[in-house]
Amino acid sequence: MDKTARATFGTKLGIIAATAGSAVGLGNIWRFPSQTAQDGGAIFVFVYLACVAFFGVPIVLAEFILGRAGKANSARAYRNLAPGGWFHVFGYFSISAAFLIMGFYMVVAGWTLEYLRLSLTGELASTNDFGALFSSLTNDAGTQIGWMAVFVLGTGGIVAFGVKKGIELASKLMMPLLLLVMLVLCVRALTLPGAGAGLSYLFAPNLETAGDAGARLLTDALGQSFFSLSVGMGTLMTYASYFGRDVRLAKTAGTMAALDTAVALLAGVIIFPAAFALAAHPESMVETLKAGGPGLVFISIPQLLQSLPAAQVWSVFFFLLLVLASLTSTISLFEVITAFVHEEVRVTLPKKIFSPRGEAAGTGETAVSPGTLRQEYRIARPFAAVVIAAGIIALGVFCACSLEENSALRLFGLSFFDFLDFLTAKLMMPLGGIFISLFAGRRLDKKILEAEYSNAGTLSLRFFKVYRFILRWIAPAGIAVVLVCGLF
Ligand code: TRP
Repeated sequence: MDKTARATFGTKLGIIAATAGSAVGLGNIWRFPSQTAQDGGAIFVFVYLACVAFFGVPIVLAEFILGRAGKANSARAYRNLAPGGWFHVFGYFSISAAFLIMGFYMVVAGWTLEYLRLSLTGELASTNDFGALFSSLTNDAGTQIGWMAVFVLGTGGIVAFGVKKGIELASKLMMPLLLLVMLVLCVRALTLPGAGAGLSYLFAPNLETAGDAGARLLTDALGQSFFSLSVGMGTLMTYASYFGRDVRLAKTAGTMAALDTAVALLAGVIIFPAAFALAAHPESMVETLKAGGPGLVFISIPQLLQSLPAAQVWSVFFFLLLVLASLTSTISLFEVITAFVHEEVRVTLPKKIFSPRGEAAGTGETAVSPGTLRQEYRIARPFAAVVIAAGIIALGVFCACSLEENSALRLFGLSFFDFLDFLTAKLMMPLGGIFISLFAGRRLDKKILEAEYSNAGTLSLRFFKVYRFILRWIAPAGIAVVLVCGLF
């Protein structure tokens, strides 16, 4: 095989499964409901939807354009697209962000495995204090680290198989299963008597609670929309570098965002009605939800599920859903770094010479001294995956330990875990969004933008002007305003 040929996804369905798989994750099922609860329900949902439509989707499309045109990992793609500039520094920024996100994401993904185990063995059903169960897990660094490492290695194992046989195949198998589990749970939640109160919390605006959240609501909604769409960090760019020429980028961006949003709303439709219907005191449920945060999915939901007939089955379903959703997302984050290491890092090793005159044969070889040859090698995917996994596990250990009570691992008043969440979702991703929209709208050759938008002139250029205007002005200015509001 030609070593310079770039892998591609095999089918359109595979592309949708992989991109939607990246987007649909803990962001939808764990982060979205707790943000919605904290920021007062429906108003947050509306602002969130606006952020997806006006900022999220245009930037997803921009990442697709940059990725397919740049044909490389996110650092080299900027070099290919704008030679000689400093733009590739942003590529390093986004690769580091993928690493930092995985630091806390893998810990939560580890919790989902522990809860799946607790559901399967029936231990979850025999608990009577779910809050205590969850805090005993977050105070038990050993168990957290163990499951986190399992998740990291599982992710690395899939990525090691490459784009088609690893990422695409895994996404095509897991995404339909995920949607199925989700629909089953949704029907169950909606048919509970009293589900209506949860639905109206989610969809009927309540100005008072939204007012309490204030400007934070804007930053939360923007951060959440970027996090959920996996946008602003080069993840989608990396995936798009494996797209074929005939993939319709705008359509793919729209489909992916629609699926992601649908799953977030479905998660809300599962969690809020269940919460209101099954709570002993629905009024106090609102308070629980608000305080909920990360615990919502690991405390309130398991507790609620226990009050259903065949509780064990529902909780196995629920945590299986979380595991699947997390795995397709961690794969995409892991791939950002793998593509970089595989394509950019070279190791130089001595090579035995067989030719009697010691001549360098072939490319990539340099004679360093008479009689010694050195050859540059790329790092193979599986090897890259092992090294990256080790790095992520090391970071995850700090995150897991920082959740223990009285842990000293705190930064700016937050646990290291919360700090990484805040740093990536609220700061790095919006900054990434500004950068990507400005780069695609202003720095990238307009002809390239146009050619990618229209698949080299075969698709209509309708809305191209509007789109470019959004990239040049609306998205960067809007995101900047939200970012600044949130900081003060
Ligand atoms: N979007 C995923 C979720 O909702 C998380 C994720 C995957 C992500 N890749 C990303 C977030 C890249 C930010 C950047 O859970």
